[in-house]
Amino acid sequence: MSQGTAPAALITALDVDSQAAAVALARQTIPASPWVKVGLELFAAASPAVVSTLAGHGARVFLDLKFFDIPATVRAAVREAGRLGAAMTTLHALGGERMAAAALEGRHASGANTLLVAVTLLTSMTGQDLAWLTPHAPGHEAELVIHMARQAKAWGLDGVVCSPWEAAQVKAACGAGFKVVTPGIRPQDAGEDDQRRTATPAAAVAAGADFLVVGRPIRMAASPAAAAAAMVLEIQAAQDVK
Ligand code: C5P
Repeated sequence: MSQGTAPAALITALDVDSQAAAVALARQTIPASPWVKVGLELFAAASPAVVSTLAGHGARVFLDLKFFDIPATVRAAVREAGRLGAAMTTLHALGGERMAAAALEGRHASGANTLLVAVTLLTSMTGQDLAWLTPHAPGHEAELVIHMARQAKAWGLDGVVCSPWEAAQVKAACGAGFKVVTPGIRPQDAGEDDQRRTATPAAAVAAGADFLVVGRPIRMAASPAAAAAAMVLEIQAAQDVK
């Protein structure tokens, strides 16, 4: 590992429909990595208290609700996410500078130091999915993502969510300290599911990802504990050769 580089962390996406299922899955994966992701499904199915419950089991909670609303609403939502104990949360870069500024105010009001990361282009999407909006999008995914990342950094956000395919370019454009969170992680022998811009854990680490979000490859494994542990080993091995 290069001097001064924090090791990349595995985040297990708890994409389940009850607090009991989330806690059961988290208890299996926390020994490998404390980071878990509470997304829209779990947040809608359980109460917001699922965040503190998971924290009580030793988890660092990434509350991935992908905020995208008027600045006043995002300010209040980020404030509440901080009060709940979220260690990291997301907002859409598409919300622009005023929404990002409101998110930073919300964090300040919460008194927490929740990492604020901007969602760029979902890893399930390609530029083709934006062709209805602009004919310039297909084939220009990386440019779009890098542009959003530069802006997010200029607005004072802590990092971005992007595909592993753009991670290296984001790091080059925004600097080593700007966090890169990459979903779309698939082991060598796994299918893509609905993801489109995927990479192996080793490739994501080599590209500079700080956080690797993994859902189905862990959740659907015969042993989520073993799958998470294997993934952490692959991350560490990739980090060592960096
Ligand atoms: O099952 P899988 O590994 O594809 O899960 C990826 C997780 O990361 C899901 O919870 C999904 O909502 C989330 N995510 C994503 N792409 C983004 C942001 C979040 O896939 N750009």
